[in-house]
Amino acid sequence: MRAIVQRETGGPEVLRLEEIEDPVPGPGEVVVKLRAAALNRRDVFIRTGQYAGIKLPSTPGADGVGEVAAVGEGVSNVTPGQAVVIDPALDWGDDPSAQGASFRILGLGADNGTYAQLVRIPASNVYAKPEGLSWEEAAAIPLAGLTAYRAVNTRGQVKAGETVLVTGIGGGVSTFALTLARHLGARVLVLSGKDEKLARAATLGADAGFNYNTSDWVKEVRAATGGKGPDVVIDSVGGATFNQVLDVVRPGGRVVVFGSTLGAVPETVLRRIFWKQLDVRGSTMGLPSEFAAMLRLFGEGGLRPAIDKVFPLEEAGAAQVRMQEAEQFGKIILSIPA
Ligand SMILES: NC(=O)c1ccc[n+]([C@@H]2O[C@H](COP(=O)([O-])OP(=O)(O)OC[C@H]3O[C@@H](n4cnc5c(N)ncnc54)[C@H](OP(=O)(O)O)[C@@H]3O)[C@@H](O)[C@H]2O)c1
Repeated sequence: MRAIVQRETGGPEVLRLEEIEDPVPGPGEVVVKLRAAALNRRDVFIRTGQYAGIKLPSTPGADGVGEVAAVGEGVSNVTPGQAVVIDPALDWGDDPSAQGASFRILGLGADNGTYAQLVRIPASNVYAKPEGLSWEEAAAIPLAGLTAYRAVNTRGQVKAGETVLVTGIGGGVSTFALTLARHLGARVLVLSGKDEKLARAATLGADAGFNYNTSDWVKEVRAATGGKGPDVVIDSVGGATFNQVLDVVRPGGRVVVFGSTLGAVPETVLRRIFWKQLDVRGSTMGLPSEFAAMLRLFGEGGLRPAIDKVFPLEEAGAAQVRMQEAEQFGKIILSIPA
């Protein structure tokens, strides 16, 4: 098969299309013939050497959809030819409150990922592709949809009538967080560095948007919430933005953090947390039951993912540059040749 192989960390040129051996399913596993994959910021962090536990060579990619090509011994939940979506969360473990030590995400080291024509995966990680979604739409959903579902529904406990602020709205996960929070009946405010992304977010149902490059957004968000601040903030930008998030959230409010694109928070934040009686909750990926519930919302529930742009597999490097430069709104997709 043809696959993108990363043998070293570096620029986009380290993502090379190679001819490599087809994967073979072991007991309890399937091989999926991929039709589309999607990018996540993690793929860029792995390429640039900014991710914990990098093991190379490896084929990147957590998100993938396609048809089951082969099944291993003992597999009964799917049959060859079936259209499936892959849950990239591997071996969560027994504790629903947090993943165990064996937890991994598809697309690193021996868990070769979806920037490929074929991928090997436990049969328990594949789900019937929702009918009515294109391959590209279905590929956009898994990692970002799962992360947003746990952050908004399980950890954020967002309720109808609450006001939710989502930072970095152009991001893959953030667009899902907007859609899921709106679906729960919340009023959703969004932040972006670009006005055109704020306009796109409005078409997905955002009630108001603020540009962090051109406005005093903390003041404006306060004004838009009657001086009180949002009930919940869903953040993955981190860095200096995190302190502003703690400033803007209402006293007694919730902050759900699932990432830190900008890295470390530059000053102490503890006083803000205890004085405002804040509830700061971490969130990562999600359980199989959360994946199934999320997928139903995008299947029979009729929700749609935001697609940014589709690149052919061999242009994976250029696709990652688009993400690295924060040009995207929603998910960047790779189409995979038959
Ligand atoms: N814990 C988990 O399970 C989990 C799962 C998925 C992702 N993550 C993490 O969550 C973060 C987002 O992931 P993603 O895949 O959605 O990434 P993404 O699609 O690349 O989105 C990141 C967004 O952050 C915003 N941003 C970029 N540079 C910024 C800057 N200088 N200042 C402020 N905002 C900036 C941009 O939105 P605007 O241009 O609109 O501002 C960008 O679209 C990453 O850090 C990722 O590692 C964690």
